[in-house]
Amino acid sequence: MPQKFSAPRGTRDLLPEEARAWERVEAVVRDLSARYGFERIDTPLFERIDLFARGLGESSDAVEKEMFRVSGAKGSEEERSEWALRPEPTAGIVRAYIEHGMHVRPSPLRLWMMGPMFRYARPQAGRYRQFTQWDVEVIGDPGPMVDAELIELAHRFYADAGLSGVVAQLNSIGDAACRPRYREALLAYFSPLAGQLSVDAERRLRVNPLRVLDDKELDPQLAAGAPKSLDYLCDACRTHFEGLRDLLDLLEVRYAINDRLVRGLDYYTRTTVEFYVTGREGQQDALGGGGRYDGLIEVLGGQPAPAIGFGLGIDRTVMAVQAQDGRAVLEPLVLAVVSAAPDAAAGRLRIATALRNQGVSVRVDGLARKLGRQLESAVKAGARWALILNDPQGERLTLRDLVSGGQRDVAIAEIAELVAS
Ligand code: HAM
Repeated sequence: MPQKFSAPRGTRDLLPEEARAWERVEAVVRDLSARYGFERIDTPLFERIDLFARGLGESSDAVEKEMFRVSGAKGSEEERSEWALRPEPTAGIVRAYIEHGMHVRPSPLRLWMMGPMFRYARPQAGRYRQFTQWDVEVIGDPGPMVDAELIELAHRFYADAGLSGVVAQLNSIGDAACRPRYREALLAYFSPLAGQLSVDAERRLRVNPLRVLDDKELDPQLAAGAPKSLDYLCDACRTHFEGLRDLLDLLEVRYAINDRLVRGLDYYTRTTVEFYVTGREGQQDALGGGGRYDGLIEVLGGQPAPAIGFGLGIDRTVMAVQAQDGRAVLEPLVLAVVSAAPDAAAGRLRIATALRNQGVSVRVDGLARKLGRQLESAVKAGARWALILNDPQGERLTLRDLVSGGQRDVAIAEIAELVAS
């Protein structure tokens, strides 16, 4: 028996049925990236591990437990891996920004990227080892206007993708001026309670007390009593946060304050945000998230610059769209070329090629089947029209609407216009 292969755990094949939904969401990504004035950037799928360790923080799950290491060929210098598949895009984009001296470009810089990310976590519903994100980053704008603009953009993305009822959860976790005082308050609160914390949270308490709040197993009562970052903001951070809230109100963007929202990566300052379908906050992981990272560029060796961005999960968005409304998937409008004579494959191909030259989306095949079977197969494939060759050369053509069943004789020159209207 030959060995059977299957996709690695935590990965999925994108089959044609689901690919249509993906394409629609990807089209929204491209449309909005252009309409909001973002420029595309692409970075490698793998980078040096220490870029992630330094960038995302040693206490983040992504670095501590989920790094997907890659090694070089046997016997090569890189055999003992110093690389990892990217768990997220921001660190790589900032690396590229510094490496290519992009700080001299007109500021603020607006970049977008879409592609696969890798986290070696235990696979579960909506959590994969390979997943896709749409990422946008704005470097060189201290906000809060851009913070509001990006949150509005994320809302528009979900709406355009066909998802309703998405709410932004919002928090501010302060900056280098006020964070130390907040850290101390958390330490003072949680240290005597260390016995009630999970092993994970206890360790986080020592490395980065903010991330105790992010622990899934944290007792809700302990969490509710914990100091809130919003009560510890310095004047500058408070003004920034209030400015952001006013702008969101002005734009009529839905949001809710979540004072436990510290995010899973260590680079955030001030604004943190996550997106959920309303009512599913507790049961489902975030559809997307992001925030401000005013200190990261300096940490990675660049000239200090304020920055903000988000990553929206495409996998989770497609799943949510399908759960809410399968109709959101747009079918492509395709015309199938068929023939009365089963063996007129050459004629069908010639006509199909002529139509493709005119920009029509065409399906055609070379199987020798009766007209009825050809039409059946066109309907099953989701074609909107069938163009029937009444003679083997296709000198006499009939266009049939496969939805209404109506048909009429046509000349090849009028087809492109007919199917477009
Ligand atoms: P993140 O919250 O780690 O942020 O990921 C953003 C989104 O990626 C999540 O909300 C989720 O939709 C998706 N995602 C994350 N992990 C998985 C997984 N294992 N399976 C499926 N989907 C997943 C970041 O990555 C930051 N770089 C966002 C950002 C950009 N912050 C500033 N700029």
